[in-house]
Amino acid sequence: MKVLFIGDIVGRHARNYVQKKIIELKSELKLDAIIVNVENSAGGFGVTPSICEDFFKAGADVLTTGNHIWDKREIISYISESDKLLRPLNMIEGTPGLGMTIIEIPAGRIGVANIMTNLFMGPTDPVFETLPKIVEKFKLNFNVDFSIVDVHGEASSEKMAIGFALDGKVSAVVGTHTHVPTADHRVLENGTAYITDVGMSGDYDSVIGMNKKEAMTRFIYPNKKNPRLEVSTGEPTLCGVIIESNENGLSSSIHPLRLGGKLKETILN
Ligand SMILES: [Fe+2]
Ligand SMILES: [Fe+2]
Repeated sequence: MKVLFIGDIVGRHARNYVQKKIIELKSELKLDAIIVNVENSAGGFGVTPSICEDFFKAGADVLTTGNHIWDKREIISYISESDKLLRPLNMIEGTPGLGMTIIEIPAGRIGVANIMTNLFMGPTDPVFETLPKIVEKFKLNFNVDFSIVDVHGEASSEKMAIGFALDGKVSAVVGTHTHVPTADHRVLENGTAYITDVGMSGDYDSVIGMNKKEAMTRFIYPNKKNPRLEVSTGEPTLCGVIIESNENGLSSSIHPLRLGGKLKETILN
């Protein structure tokens, strides 16, 4: 199976660009599935029902999120009814929405899970206690043909440890949230494709997607009233990874995909 995972969409210009691109990429690259992290797609903060619908129309199969999922309140009723928009699985019991799902596509069944780490993040249940639930739910070659976990978190150490804990048990573990792509994409020893962070899809001439001036002011004058952060609207970069799996459901390759904007484009072969 060939799956494209795209990192945190920041703002309208990035989501318009990514939606246009995924329509092209789906046929160009013969992708079986597309998964997109949309936690910053509505003005940098959260996601709305109509944005989710636009991503599904463009060809996204499942949408993941993170700590910004509740920034737009109207998402609460939408996520409660959806099996394709996820919030982190380890949010406290009773939280609306699902943290993992299995969808059927022409190429087979795909399991997608979304979890949030604990270090330097808002309070959630211990992330390592969540992992057995994912392994139990997604049984490769039994009830799913491919499985992917979006690990939303700040600390690279914690994300790496999760990658190793799931190695050989899921097809892929991909990090999100820092908005900066890492260069450690590889297939781990037991066949799980891994990257610490896919990077954001947004304007990289910014501080993690937000206008430089206001974002810098917050650091330079920490005692002053925080200026409002606005999405930086320069040319966006699409940041993602393409994962290819074998017959056994484990991965044979993971390749970074970067298109447009300030980052050097990756060459696909
Ligand atoms: Fe984000
Ligand atoms: Fe986040």
